[in-house]
Amino acid sequence: MKLTGFMKYAMIFTVVMAAGCSKTPEQPAPSSETTSGKVWNIGFSQCNLGEPWRKQMNTDIQAAAASHKNLKVFYKDAQNDTAVQQNQVREFVQQGVDLIIISPKESVPLTKPVAEAMDKKIPVIVLDRALEGDKFTCFIGGDNRQIGREAGKFLAKLLGGKGNVVELKGLMTSTPAIDRHEGFIEGIKGSRINIIFNADCKWLEPDAQREMKSALARFPVIDAVYAHNDPSAHGAYLAAQQEGKGREKSIKFIGIDGLPTEGAKYVKDGILDATFVYPTCGPEAIDTALKVLKGEKVPKEIILPTKAITR
Ligand code: FRU
Repeated sequence: MKLTGFMKYAMIFTVVMAAGCSKTPEQPAPSSETTSGKVWNIGFSQCNLGEPWRKQMNTDIQAAAASHKNLKVFYKDAQNDTAVQQNQVREFVQQGVDLIIISPKESVPLTKPVAEAMDKKIPVIVLDRALEGDKFTCFIGGDNRQIGREAGKFLAKLLGGKGNVVELKGLMTSTPAIDRHEGFIEGIKGSRINIIFNADCKWLEPDAQREMKSALARFPVIDAVYAHNDPSAHGAYLAAQQEGKGREKSIKFIGIDGLPTEGAKYVKDGILDATFVYPTCGPEAIDTALKVLKGEKVPKEIILPTKAITR
């Protein structure tokens, strides 16, 4: 059924009233015609805003969208809660947005709400962490396998081909963590690097700090830490420093994300030996959204390259 502007508005209004509890100050109004053309409403569900990399992604999306007067982006923060994020996608569908952008917390549980949106003919662009199957419009992300591989090769070279490594993984129910792990294994293949300790740190600095503390207590010789993101690498460094034996000086620390204000700065400050830039996909997300909204064809997958930042 084709809804008229008014019917659509009435429906959105009813849904918002019925929900009655949304904290978002602004709700998507129906797509409208302005003198300069159609205005499209985009709902963006970000899995959390607790980490600098996520904040940067929002900033990048905001900056990219600002130059397009015909786009209005509505931001939701799922606060690292899968159930909240599932509801956010469903809310956007009820509100009748023209397109959804999601950076999901986890693959499996977000697959169904996104598929439901697609069934309602709302295109969905997925950023950074992939979903199961192919019921989405376009996935944009960094090449996590390549990042893992390069990190592995870099570390093998840095350690002269052998050594004891602690791997502090990201959330293993999210695809970047799986790919960063598998890529790393490929990267160290043929060397005598041993992963003596590993833990799922869920991408969180405090978890990484805690896990590193137990690794330090258990293993007198740790040559390097491969952390799946810069917050975790930093947490590991702090744990080594807090042990008070100066072990942070003999351990090599590698992270991923490479933000100028975070990982790149840690490298500059001598905390990390390397970090790998993980693009936020913000500009590409808006570019792709516009194409989709205009009815242009877009690739199913856009994979962005990385760059190593070393001392
Ligand atoms: C932020 C983050 C980044 C990491 C990405 C992986 O939430 O943990 O540090 O690179 O997510 O999805």
